Amino acid sequence: METKQVRFAVVGGGMGKAHIKGIDEIPEAILTAFCDIDENVAKTVSQEAGLDKYYTDYYEMLRDGGFDCIVLCTPDQIHREQCVAALEAGYHVLCEKPLALTMEDCRAIDAAAKTAKGKFMVGQICRKTPGFIKAKELIDEGRIGEIFFIESEYAHDYAHIVSPWRWDTVNLRPAITGGGCHAVDLIRWLAGDPIEVMAYSNHKCLLDKPCDDATISILKFENNVMGKVFCSIGCKRYYTMRTVIYGTKGTIICDNRSPEITLYEMGELDDNGHEKYPAKPFPVDINHHNATGEIKDMCDIILGDLPVEITAAEGANTVAVCEAILKSCETGKPTAPEYIK
Ligand SMILES: NC(=O)c1ccc[n+]([C@@H]2O[C@H](COP(=O)([O-])OP(=O)(O)OC[C@H]3O[C@@H](n4cnc5c(N)ncnc54)[C@H](O)[C@@H]3O)[C@@H](O)[C@H]2O)c1
Repeated sequence: METKQVRFAVVGGGMGKAHIKGIDEIPEAILTAFCDIDENVAKTVSQEAGLDKYYTDYYEMLRDGGFDCIVLCTPDQIHREQCVAALEAGYHVLCEKPLALTMEDCRAIDAAAKTAKGKFMVGQICRKTPGFIKAKELIDEGRIGEIFFIESEYAHDYAHIVSPWRWDTVNLRPAITGGGCHAVDLIRWLAGDPIEVMAYSNHKCLLDKPCDDATISILKFENNVMGKVFCSIGCKRYYTMRTVIYGTKGTIICDNRSPEITLYEMGELDDNGHEKYPAKPFPVDINHHNATGEIKDMCDIILGDLPVEITAAEGANTVAVCEAILKSCETGKPTAPEYIK
């Protein structure tokens, strides 16, 4: 029996390599084109992938075609231009997070996605991270009762990351939107949309870089639920996204770098009649860049004509929270995110 396949074009040879590996691992996926504006990268990555042609011009690749879905792994500042062009040309698109750096750009992509015939998904990778998937499963099963507080952090030292677009002084990439969007999106996925944020930021670690490198944000949700996001791109520790979810009946501690997540539940009493809260570990795979999971999703969505979970609007609403956090840092006032439907 013939296997139906989705033909992919990947753009950008940084994270793009993880997506090419994902395409290689999924039988329903095949790589047919690769583009990078840097000729050396375009040539090397294409050759390694066994392609007999390489592109340095995105629009030439769009005109040539020969693929169904474009995976955009390019600087955040150009996601809008490249997403809109791909959608208008009729392709399916998987775009790396963050959808864009401003809500203005996000709205333009969302409008294009809503009228396009192709499917559009944002690569919010935490939703494909095994430890966080397990945490969501336990929450949905009711194991910790109602969430009353959730905290997540994005702690990742960028001191040695050279890619110049991350440090663009004109089209700034704020830490909370560029990397912190992971923690914001994870919190939205697990606990829903915050209705208000209050935030502070400082600049003490990456003094040669153009933006504040640490942000702390307090979030308020419906029903008096509270949240917190800490984001640092200058911290002196290994990359982690430690996340703690406090519920009325139990607590989950998880992150993206550990082989297990831990659940503490009510129910077992010690000799004095006090709760013991023994740690219940759940083993999980360590896979914090599960691009293969995203490629698999994209194949299922395209081949099965299924609805997309992480739509342009979903990606945009994560950026809406980041934008409210930045505004609160600037004004010193609580700020409501401006969500789109
Ligand atoms: N999911 C994750 O955890 C994760 C991790 C890192 C980066 N990202 C995201 O992935 C995207 C790419 O980041 P990266 O770390 O791979 O960056 P990178 O700088 O390592 O690679 C980007 C590549 O895009 C190429 N490029 C730039 N402009 C181009 C253009 N107009 N046309 C074609 N190619 C162009 C560059 O030459 C470069 O090779 C960003 O949106 C970033 O936020 C996601």
